[in-house]
Amino acid sequence: MATKAAEMRSQGIDVINFSVGEPDFNTPEHIIAAGKAAMDAGFTKYTAGPGMIELRQAICEKLKRENGLEYTPLEILVSNGEKQSLYNACQVLFHKGDEVIIFVPYWVSFPEFVRLADAEPVLIDTLPDKQFEADFNDLEKKITPAIKGVIINSPSNPTGGVWGVEALIRLLKMAVQHDWTVISDECYERLVFDGEFISIEKLNRGHNIGARVVTCLSLSKTYAMTGWRIGYAAGDEIIIKAMSKIQGQSTSCANSIGQRAGIVALTGDQQPVEDMRLQFRERRDLMVKLLNDMPGISCATPGGAFYTFPNFSEYIGKKANGKVIQDSFDLSEFILTSEAVVTVPGDGFGAPGHIRFSCATDKETIKRGLSKVASVLQKLV
Ligand SMILES: Cc1ncc(COP(=O)(O)O)c(C=O)c1O
Repeated sequence: MATKAAEMRSQGIDVINFSVGEPDFNTPEHIIAAGKAAMDAGFTKYTAGPGMIELRQAICEKLKRENGLEYTPLEILVSNGEKQSLYNACQVLFHKGDEVIIFVPYWVSFPEFVRLADAEPVLIDTLPDKQFEADFNDLEKKITPAIKGVIINSPSNPTGGVWGVEALIRLLKMAVQHDWTVISDECYERLVFDGEFISIEKLNRGHNIGARVVTCLSLSKTYAMTGWRIGYAAGDEIIIKAMSKIQGQSTSCANSIGQRAGIVALTGDQQPVEDMRLQFRERRDLMVKLLNDMPGISCATPGGAFYTFPNFSEYIGKKANGKVIQDSFDLSEFILTSEAVVTVPGDGFGAPGHIRFSCATDKETIKRGLSKVASVLQKLV
């Protein structure tokens, strides 16, 4: 889809892009200034493998201040983006013959992280009407002794779903009962719109549940810093040490300039984060309304992140120019070729019939783009 969109753009076509997986805002000025200052000061060399101690301390302070969690720097690993922390965690925790629970729709990298560790994903259904929380009936049916872990992502990419406390506690209790390690991807923690974000580890400790949780976090979405590549993991010292060993042999350390900027991001002015959150919320509200106004489309209101994940199933099986729309790939492609609007087909996230729309674009473009999508749908018979 991206390649086609690029081709269309090169032909001078006005392409509207709803596929973006990163904030459309720039990194806040004071963070950029910190990166420049780091370079000017010659802070351009390797750092300690698990991350500069000053950054790991800043992360501990952040975890205490924002999440109510006490950690020491030995329990923190700074990576080249959270993606590397998640990858390292799967390498350390899972092996051949193991199974790992992943909830559908899933972020595309989760099953691949598991497979790269020679383990197998076990896909569990979720409930679209309940913020895509686990369908515990499906989960109970699929439990095997081979399951060693569970990956959870709330707020979620692609659905924007935010699980309620009850479901999280239920999952943590099951993890203790079956000795699963919980990997919690909380990269959208600061993008929650309808309530307060609670870290899974906070619930785990607060309710004395005793699950083994590795929390993975990122500066990418919170501070619009996707290109700086700074993410981190917080967890048991032994697990973090093993993750650090793998990282040390693959990429040494995260980039030094990004780490310096990361300290300023975590300890400096947080107003830009709130400003972005409010804008994303307005865009979400607009997008959900416009999508639900389209005949046959249902779109649950996502509690967080910056995606909407409407159900287009009514249109699968219809015909466009005599050709049957077989799945969401066909539908996304038809939307692109007929009205130059880029979207992400849900099949890639394990969710047939759905399409992901990113809110990382301004409100005028959202209105223009969705009115084009509405007119595409009218062409389907
Ligand atoms: C659910 C989820 N986890 C992790 C990441 C990766 O974040 P990072 O840029 O820190 O590697 C993304 C990025 O799209 C994401 O959507």
